[in-house]
Amino acid sequence: MLQKPRGTRDFLPDEMARRRAAEAKMREAVARWGYGEVCTPTFEDVELFTIRSGENIKKEMYTFEDKGNRQMTLRPEVTASVARMYVNEGRSLPKPLRWFYVADCFRYERPQKGRYRQFWQFGVELIGADSASADAEVVMVADDLLRSVGLEYDLKVGFLAPMKHLLSGIEPGLQRQVMGLLDKRDFEGLAGCLQTCGQDELEDALTGLVSCRAPEEAFEICGEIPEKTRIEEIFSILDGSETEYTLNFGIVRGLDYYTGMVFEGFAPNLGAESQVVGGGNYRLAKLFGGDDAASCGFAIGFDRVMVSLGETPMPRPPLVAVLSQPGLLAVAFRTARALRAAGVTAELNLLDRGIGAQLSHAAKTADFACIIGQRESEAGTVTLKDLHTGEQREMSLSEAVAGVKAVGDR
Ligand code: HAM
Repeated sequence: MLQKPRGTRDFLPDEMARRRAAEAKMREAVARWGYGEVCTPTFEDVELFTIRSGENIKKEMYTFEDKGNRQMTLRPEVTASVARMYVNEGRSLPKPLRWFYVADCFRYERPQKGRYRQFWQFGVELIGADSASADAEVVMVADDLLRSVGLEYDLKVGFLAPMKHLLSGIEPGLQRQVMGLLDKRDFEGLAGCLQTCGQDELEDALTGLVSCRAPEEAFEICGEIPEKTRIEEIFSILDGSETEYTLNFGIVRGLDYYTGMVFEGFAPNLGAESQVVGGGNYRLAKLFGGDDAASCGFAIGFDRVMVSLGETPMPRPPLVAVLSQPGLLAVAFRTARALRAAGVTAELNLLDRGIGAQLSHAAKTADFACIIGQRESEAGTVTLKDLHTGEQREMSLSEAVAGVKAVGDR
């Protein structure tokens, strides 16, 4: 038996209905902030993602050579594609641009619960607004989207400058290593690493930064930095808007292109892969040949949100199985069409089954049976049977429609 590729999933109709319902809520929420949907290609030139996204992502990319000998890759994320699209198509549009996307991404990671090789992101990019209000808006949009589906999660917001300032004397490769250890809260590893490069004196400052709960505490550690006002403004807007978050100057992010504010959200009921959203400021447009547009965005890991929400049953409209005696198939098709035209969900028996077998099948899948026998066909009526209560009665089609609609979603 052939199997699906490792790290991918098949979705049955019930699960798809749950996914679509959650996605619809997020779409409604993001539309209320004025964001419009964009769509970029599933694959891009490999270079788009190797320019600035970082080593972690490069190791995980699905890269292939196409028939024209071009190096292509399945997108591991969408931000770089959106930045490219902005440079190609959006530069003359009035700014700021408020864009969102729902897209599958591909990363060759070790699969486990909440970590897949094909996964979906619900993302937002705000391009061309270099302000604390823009940064705060993006955090608030992320929070609104996650709350719109009823997710319980913890939001952490930080800014890279204090940490980068402390690490400015270290060479970039080592900087990245130190930041990675801090991100993982691996303080033992951090101490070892700083010792090896003769920077022991940074240990207290860095660990102190991670536990700061107010911007002033961070400035006491890292001193006056040019980004001070921006940082103060962002957190004052977030506080003023009553956004629930924890300040965290230890957030590093896995991708290399972030330049300022960074934020992440974690759902406590998920295991090791609990990060449900990540984002921040970046400036990719210039690298791709455009202007130096300040940008800020995030991506929600849609699959993790679905795992965290759990398998809540989805209400669905009642389903009517239209059953008919042999020879009355045309009447059955007409009846089903009339039911659908009246807004009722109707399916027909497609197999060579007697009425009894049709009924017992319908009892497993449908809420009502709409039975058409010789008598009903001649009288222009149907017999409607409630498959949950067993009650049945012959009636006009419009009465049947009203009867089905009256029960509402199941
Ligand atoms: P990211 O943190 O790499 O950021 O991914 C965003 C979210 O995608 C993660 O927080 C996680 O929920 C989900 N995710 C990542 N990898 C997997 C996986 N293998 N399986 C399931 N879910 C996964 C970005 O991709 C940035 N482009 C976000 C961004 C947008 N920054 C600015 N704008």
